[in-house]
Amino acid sequence: MKIEIRPMKQWSGKVRVAFMFDGDKTPLAIPGADGAYLARIAAEEKFTGQAKKTILMRGDAGASRVIVAGLGRRKELEPDNVRAAAARAVKRAEEIGAESVAVLLPEGKAGRLELPDFAAAVVEGAILGSYRFTRHMTPKTDDSKPVAELLLSCNRAPSATLKKAVDNAIALAEAVCFTRDLVNEPSSLKPPEKMGEIAQTLAEKGRVAVKVMHKEELEKLGMGGILRVGAGSHQPPCLVHMTYTPPGKSKKTVVFIGKGITFDSGGLSIKPSLGMEYMKDDMAGAASVFGLFKWLGSTDLPVTVHGFAPLAENMPGGGAQKPGDIIRHYNGKTAEVISTDAEGRHLLADCLAYGSTLKPDLMIDVATLTGACVVALGDEYSALLGTDQKTIERLIRLGREQGEFFWQLPLPDRYKAQLKSKVADLKHIGKVGSGGTIAAGLFLKEFVADGIPWVHFDIAGPSFAKEDWDYTPVGGTGIPVRTLAALLRSL
Ligand code: BES
Ligand code: ZN
Ligand code: MN
Repeated sequence: MKIEIRPMKQWSGKVRVAFMFDGDKTPLAIPGADGAYLARIAAEEKFTGQAKKTILMRGDAGASRVIVAGLGRRKELEPDNVRAAAARAVKRAEEIGAESVAVLLPEGKAGRLELPDFAAAVVEGAILGSYRFTRHMTPKTDDSKPVAELLLSCNRAPSATLKKAVDNAIALAEAVCFTRDLVNEPSSLKPPEKMGEIAQTLAEKGRVAVKVMHKEELEKLGMGGILRVGAGSHQPPCLVHMTYTPPGKSKKTVVFIGKGITFDSGGLSIKPSLGMEYMKDDMAGAASVFGLFKWLGSTDLPVTVHGFAPLAENMPGGGAQKPGDIIRHYNGKTAEVISTDAEGRHLLADCLAYGSTLKPDLMIDVATLTGACVVALGDEYSALLGTDQKTIERLIRLGREQGEFFWQLPLPDRYKAQLKSKVADLKHIGKVGSGGTIAAGLFLKEFVADGIPWVHFDIAGPSFAKEDWDYTPVGGTGIPVRTLAALLRSL
């Protein structure tokens, strides 16, 4: 989708989109008699600007169409209402075959949103809402075609802030689509080494460098977690290390780690077949770190950012790890394996220990780690656990702005006894059927060096939408890329 900011005068399309607050007399940007007329016709169809509603109307004696998208009450406006409204409007435009759509931006502030924030939300909603994963489908002639051009129309010359906000929104939304593509891709087309090749493409832009550590190097480093989990597959594991270096002096160093199990069969503790197809998404944490670096390539943020994606396929092949095995991790800590299906924590453990050696100001890992998290928080909330309370609270707040929802779970010392082993430093799971997300968090904590602020995201539910959400079609969602980007911008 091509996106430009221009005045309406330089546009010859036929479909316009305007937004309207519930309770207002006219849509935003169509004031006066024209707007009042539209609003009156709309009201006859019970449309008053309600959130999640749109109405399609004829304007200019039938020569053009206007889609009015509801924003809900002005006082309650959140950026996510704008994203959802824009996504619905663009979908409506696609249904009527529009190739080019002009979105009428408000003149200034709308509700509590400044114009640049409003415009950014429109762009995000439009791009994210029209995302489709069709690369493996044969095109059909009656398929509706995505809207090719989106004009953000404003009458005044756009300010530098507006332009910058729109450019950032485009880069961010495209990064999220990149993450979604990776998650949606079938496992057999994205084995670890292939993911490593894809990571290399991230170094083409901006200040991003990428290094792939192959099996031999992981052996030298002693990354037993990644190696043992990957040992049941003929596809060798690897570890991607991405680095963003700021233009000037670096203010902070942040490490991100994303779980990259390109398929989780469970290994010898094999999963039931029902729903196993979803386990192609067990690399969604890694994919979100890839997406974050795609976005970082378009920025000049003043922080140093490291991204690690430990990649492996969890399979029950001849070399596979077995229940009862003991894994030695990068920092020398050993763990007794009870279920080979609790594999993710071993990859993360290696990377948390390795990331600690960089002495970051903040370390964040993102993982589709536990089914227990979906039981606790459902499909749309991710769990946050960790040692950095300020950052956790900030992430919850930033997430709400982004329409990405997080909820904190505790990391109580009282449960640590569950991880005692008779044969190794740690047992890798706690009590069966009891607080599995917390036990996993407590396990990870053992690999974060003392004094390093750390947050763990369990995105087992929200990484993959099983039904359409407002501007998130079924499939990989790209959560929490936008929140992580917002966090980096806030540092
Ligand atoms: N990748 C799964 C967790 C998962 C489950 C993600 C459902 C998305 C949806 C993880 O590797 C796993 O299998 N965890 C086990 C842990 C258990 C054996 C302690 C689980 O949750 O059942
Ligand atoms: Zn897994
Ligand atoms: Mn598993």
